[in-house]
Amino acid sequence: MEKRLIIAIDGPAASGKSTTARLLARRLGYVYLDTGAMYRACALQLLRDGISLEDLPAIEAMLKDLDIRVEISGEENRILLGTEDVSQAIRANEISQLASSVSALPAVRHRMVELQREMASAGGFILDGRDIGTYVFPNADLKIFLTAAPEIRAHRRWLELKNKGVEKDLDAILAEIKERDHNDSSRSLAPLAVAEDAIVLDNSQLTIDQQVESLHGLVLQTLEAK
Ligand code: DC
Repeated sequence: MEKRLIIAIDGPAASGKSTTARLLARRLGYVYLDTGAMYRACALQLLRDGISLEDLPAIEAMLKDLDIRVEISGEENRILLGTEDVSQAIRANEISQLASSVSALPAVRHRMVELQREMASAGGFILDGRDIGTYVFPNADLKIFLTAAPEIRAHRRWLELKNKGVEKDLDAILAEIKERDHNDSSRSLAPLAVAEDAIVLDNSQLTIDQQVESLHGLVLQTLEAK
């Protein structure tokens, strides 16, 4: 039987990781796991509980009780806190920024990484995030680092919001993206970084279809080499 790979797709905010990972998962019949959504759900819980990022004992207690579930069916992920579906709520802009800060806390990372390893170690998984190839699965079969110029990522996000009827200043989006890149790359535990053996794909000039096609080619090469 063909080996079921673990594929890591890392990269900065709004680099198209989730769209690419979802489409690639569909094409391969793999499961897609959105690890950013897990940090977002933690951020939402902290916000709801009114816990400050400095209050480490309260954060530890929150993590102990945290009932975070990722319901996966193929490439779709629903994120639940207890029985509540928070898949939409975690996409709010304030949660994006808070998730970036929350994800720098070692206690949070340890818990989330533990869950990610439990879910995906059997293979047949594509995970997107910041530290999948460097930390969560350092032995992943294929590691992709997806990136694009900040201005291009900001413009894509602006367009995505516009299509949803949300008007937001392009410069403000660019500033938020840069801030998040900085936070995610400068934290001490498992920062956003290119793994030594990752293939870097700058998609500034690529369409989604071209990206998926090129990643699919890399998957086939990886399988042939197994
Ligand atoms: O991919 P995203 O924008 O949904 O991620 C939200 C935040 O979560 C991101 O700014 C950094 C953090 N994150 C992380 O630290 N490690 C991951 N594997 C995924 C996300």
